[in-house]
Amino acid sequence: MRPARALIDLDALRHNYRLARELANGAKALAVIKADAYGHGAVRCALALEAEADGFAVACIEEALELRAAGIKAPVLLLEGIFEADELQLIVEHDFWCVVHSLWQLEAIEQAQLTKPIVVWLKLDSGMHRVGLHPKDYASGYQRLLASGKVARIVLMSHFARADELDCPSSGDQVAVFEAARAGMAAEVSLRNSPAVLGLPQVPSDWVRPGIMLYGATPFEEPQAEAARLQPVMTLESKVICVRELPAGEPIGYGAKFITDKPMRIGVVALGYADGYPRHAGTGTPVLVAGKRTRLLGRVSMDMLCIDLTDVPEADLGSTVELWGRNILASDVAACAQTIPYQIFCNLRRVPLVYSGG
Ligand SMILES: Cc1ncc(COP(=O)(O)O)c(C=O)c1O
Repeated sequence: MRPARALIDLDALRHNYRLARELANGAKALAVIKADAYGHGAVRCALALEAEADGFAVACIEEALELRAAGIKAPVLLLEGIFEADELQLIVEHDFWCVVHSLWQLEAIEQAQLTKPIVVWLKLDSGMHRVGLHPKDYASGYQRLLASGKVARIVLMSHFARADELDCPSSGDQVAVFEAARAGMAAEVSLRNSPAVLGLPQVPSDWVRPGIMLYGATPFEEPQAEAARLQPVMTLESKVICVRELPAGEPIGYGAKFITDKPMRIGVVALGYADGYPRHAGTGTPVLVAGKRTRLLGRVSMDMLCIDLTDVPEADLGSTVELWGRNILASDVAACAQTIPYQIFCNLRRVPLVYSGG
């Protein structure tokens, strides 16, 4: 059997959720488990958190239905709301909570025949300019929802564009826009994603929405005190399936992107870009083998990659290799591939997920 696998530590997931709660200053925390819990398996993660989580957030109704089908009874928020008006019936039937980010969604609610009022999270575009009502439409949108008789409760929300940039004034500007737009509205508020949970404790919140931090990866490029308390949830590992000794001057892998500069010992690992390992991670990207840090060499292939065993004599055929996890941070691997841990987690495929701490 191919040795590549992703170990998912559900105790670490719970640790990170508790940290989000601790940093939320009494606010409730929706665990963001969209995109299959950022590649960690949404159902297993939801089951592991269900006893303590205030609710879950997913991208769309298909992801929400998967949770209900697995028996998850906690609140589930659809972060992009409806894509088509008839999804409102499923929202009522399954008790989902629904973001309203556009006027057409608001109109769909006004026009729908609903057997029960629904919970709406009304989203403001406070400066990111992706989705959300324009500030000039926010108060009237709020009033229209109240007047529709279709809504049991409204939570006011917005989303930060640059909370991951420490010391960037943009989040403060967004909070000011949000505060002005919600003046006079007696409703709960929700602004903070992971970087804001970790780094912006002063931002008002009744609900926080941590995503990446639940999986133990930092959203910041620089070290940050609270992020240092996170525990990586996923360990991506495989094994050395071939070892070779090469003299100086020999090319390694496709495109000969690495040439041995001295006599070297090379290990071939059963893991490649078809598993989601980033192809743009080049020579020097850290890996751990036989408990020692070493480096990737040359181009990543579809099913294999090469690592430097020259200074790791204890590594041999069958040695376990950590591609990311407790020792090799996913954020460091992502940085070597000019991407972010969000993407390398979400790209994971083909490797079996093996759970512990369930
Ligand atoms: C609206 C919203 N809230 C919260 C999150 C969670 O963000 P993070 O993973 O940075 O915590 C996301 C993720 O993209 C989001 O779109």
